[in-house]
Amino acid sequence: MGKFYVTTPIYYVNDVPHIGHAYTTVAADALARYWKLKGEKVCFLTGTDEHGLKMQRAAQEKGITPQELADRNSEQFKRLWEKMNIGYDDFIRTTEERHMKTVSAFVDRLIKADDIYLGEYEDWYCVPDETYWTETQLLPGRLCPNCKRPVELLKEPSYFFRMSKYRDPLLKHLDLHPDFVQPEVRWNEVKSFVQGEIRDLSISRTTFDWGIPIPNAPGHVTYVWVDALLNYISALGWPDDPEGKFASFWPADVHLIGKDILRHHAVYWPCLLMAAGVPLPKTIFAHGWWTNECRKMSKSLHNFVDPNEMIDQFGLDAFRYFMMREVAFGQDGDFSVTAFKGRINSDLANDLGNLLSRVCGMISRYLDGKLQGAPDLQGIDRELEQGLATTDHEVELCFNKFTFHKALTVIWGFINQVNKYIDTTGPWTLAKDPAKKDRLLTVLFYSAASLRGIAILLWPFIPGSAEKIWEQIGLVPPLVGINRAEQMPFKTFAPKSLIKKAEPLFPRIEV
Ligand code: ME8
Ligand code: MG
Repeated sequence: MGKFYVTTPIYYVNDVPHIGHAYTTVAADALARYWKLKGEKVCFLTGTDEHGLKMQRAAQEKGITPQELADRNSEQFKRLWEKMNIGYDDFIRTTEERHMKTVSAFVDRLIKADDIYLGEYEDWYCVPDETYWTETQLLPGRLCPNCKRPVELLKEPSYFFRMSKYRDPLLKHLDLHPDFVQPEVRWNEVKSFVQGEIRDLSISRTTFDWGIPIPNAPGHVTYVWVDALLNYISALGWPDDPEGKFASFWPADVHLIGKDILRHHAVYWPCLLMAAGVPLPKTIFAHGWWTNECRKMSKSLHNFVDPNEMIDQFGLDAFRYFMMREVAFGQDGDFSVTAFKGRINSDLANDLGNLLSRVCGMISRYLDGKLQGAPDLQGIDRELEQGLATTDHEVELCFNKFTFHKALTVIWGFINQVNKYIDTTGPWTLAKDPAKKDRLLTVLFYSAASLRGIAILLWPFIPGSAEKIWEQIGLVPPLVGINRAEQMPFKTFAPKSLIKKAEPLFPRIEV
């Protein structure tokens, strides 16, 4: 049995969650569920990033303490994840004692390794991104090259991390591990960035206090990105590792992030880890950026897609499905309600929902809800079972490559194969001729067994609906903990209860 450790970024709690946060988290959930069902030992970590100047200012504006703001908004994230059926294994908050201990121990280690020195920072800073920039990196008008908002001039004493020292080791690591940063376009971006000059990283701030103190350096709090990145190991109990989690799960199999925070993860993070003598994560996957009806989502436009609203209006699994299916993971995408409705009607209501309701309906109508094996097996039936096996294999390749949209395309290929199988075999005709009873039994058994396979394949993406399918074909949820390998071959399909015509899985939406 292997292990799988997947993380999302820890989200800033100066504000409430939006579709971007939901996106990364659903992708991580799909990965975690996939490998869990395969029997791997999985740790899926998410959480909230609660320190820093941005937080301190946001709290000030609201007239509350940063801790109060963090408590309030961290709760919003937790509540949304519950509503979204996100099965995380741990939720880390950077204001927790366990995290703060790790950060102090880590910084202490860098100090002892002589990788930290006192200097003065004099350059630009983007507060919304909590990121340092040099004059030459700025966009005209002194705007942040990442989020295009105005930056602030900083001049203050600061501890620096000797990041420049790790430039060559990082380049070497990149060359040896073409999968270290994915997709490839991001690897190239990181490579060319690292090939340029890497400056030492300012890792402390003195002009505010909402952060984790630097050991033995009064007035200095840890730079929020160093604090935040360490969540990936603080949640595992580094360095003491009292529960053995670090030993069993580190290095991370994948840090899922958006492309906005690529440099922090693919440059700062590995350099910090190398300095502390901690192995590097296996993969950093940076996905693309959502726009709303082709416009960048921003505070001034008040146009963040609100996941709560989408779920209330269209249903959770429709929303999860749309995010994973609509856009190739890694590329930018547009959230359009018209496209969303189209997917619900064609993919979910039509292809999948109709398949389920017609199979269950026919089993109920022609066989009183009771299947009895497959007494008359023919070539087309074997082809169907082969279709599922091939699909299963291709889906695994997709999960290895984080191509979720492709996994869903492949699964829908099989759904359409089953639909065609039913059209070709025509159970409604078989049902009219008592001499064809064995054929009818076989066709409906194979159709329902296919739906079991479909439920297993879809569970990572739309767990709630997968369990409804499971139940409608006479099986007993939950799916978690099933022996997946045993539940794929058709011969093991054995409904525990009568199969009835049921409510539509995905009602059609008015367009
Ligand atoms: O950056 N499209 O937190 P954050 C797609 N606290 N994904 C999006 C998105 C969009 N329009 N907007 C946000 C931080 N995301 C730091 C992270 S990790 C050690 C610290 C997603 O609240 C995407 O995953 O700004 C992006 O990287 C993340 O939210 C940024 O969330
Ligand atoms: Mg951000």
